[in-house]
Amino acid sequence: MTVRISPWVRGTDSAALEEVADLWNRNAQDRHAFYPWTGALLGRVIGQGYLPDCGGRAFEARDDDVLVGFIHITTMREFGYPPAGSVEALIVDAQYRRRGIGSELTREALGWLESLYPDIVHVDAMGAWPCGHMYTVLADGSERSGVFSSESALYRLFERFDFEPVRKSLIMRVPTTRAQSRLLFGGQTLIERRNTCTWLDQVFRARELYDHNLYDRIGYLLSRAIFGYMPGESMREGKKIYSLFGVNTPEGRRNKGYASANLSLLLKHIGQIGGDLVELHVYADNLPALALYRRLGFKKVADSMMMHRRGPGG
Ligand SMILES: CC(C)(COP(=O)(O)OP(=O)(O)OC[C@H]1O[C@@H](n2cnc3c(N)ncnc32)[C@H](O)[C@@H]1OP(=O)(O)O)[C@@H](O)C(=O)NCCC(=O)NCCS
Repeated sequence: MTVRISPWVRGTDSAALEEVADLWNRNAQDRHAFYPWTGALLGRVIGQGYLPDCGGRAFEARDDDVLVGFIHITTMREFGYPPAGSVEALIVDAQYRRRGIGSELTREALGWLESLYPDIVHVDAMGAWPCGHMYTVLADGSERSGVFSSESALYRLFERFDFEPVRKSLIMRVPTTRAQSRLLFGGQTLIERRNTCTWLDQVFRARELYDHNLYDRIGYLLSRAIFGYMPGESMREGKKIYSLFGVNTPEGRRNKGYASANLSLLLKHIGQIGGDLVELHVYADNLPALALYRRLGFKKVADSMMMHRRGPGG
């Protein structure tokens, strides 16, 4: 058996996209937030690109005619951010693991990226805003950052390529029935607004993400949050699971209970529309956010590690 690694031809060839979707669907079902891919959905992330200046490339591994491995790597050269790369997706067919195919794909992809873009400061291993885990975000309406600690083979592979752990994240959940009320206001009129079109929705196009904001009487924003339905996790677990992200209180208005009030209302709303659980992702060093979520009843269900490899320009 000889497995060949070669560039995957980008574009809108629907048969090629379906082949990758099929490889993914057969082999990633145990991944958190797995959601069945279609060639059309993949075409949106790979074929057409999904952010300006986010050019990328993919490589494939084939045993004769059969696709047995795939990697997608992108560059991010957005104003205001250091130029970076990101391994967006890496998968090897279960029957072909432990034969060095994942490493070979990674070597090819990094070699391409780093020789073409000598200004790259770092390469991100599967995920941090704004360039990684778009696959998951697009497919499952949730935010991800880094390699899940349960994915030890992937973690080891990246370590071998000199990726270093840089920031830990927690995935937390709360059942909507157990969400604690934190409405601590007396005499103040707060206005709750929902279902406006989020900036994130503009970026991701067509994912149904919603704002859930709190304003004071004169319309000043006090707290914002974004939520969306997670079809993948919901299907896997047989429950209705919603994701929560983009939680923010303007500086100068923090520590007055506004985020607690907004999220209490949001959790109640999600319960009313039939949601069983709400899931979020938070950096483990973000103490105010952790305090907020714990007080609302969120508990850790998993953790992940953002990993970086120094790029030629780093
Ligand atoms: C996290 C954030 C949304 C909280 O908003 P807020 O309106 O200040 O929230 P609340 O006033 O309802 O609650 C703040 C909590 O943080 C705690 N807190 C504040 N600073 C803290 C610190 N340095 N260490 C630990 N806890 C801290 C407060 O004591 C309070 O917890 P308590 O209710 O148990 O006392 C706000 O800090 C923020 O916008 N941060 C930047 C964006 C961000 O990190 N978002 C989260 C992304 S996952």
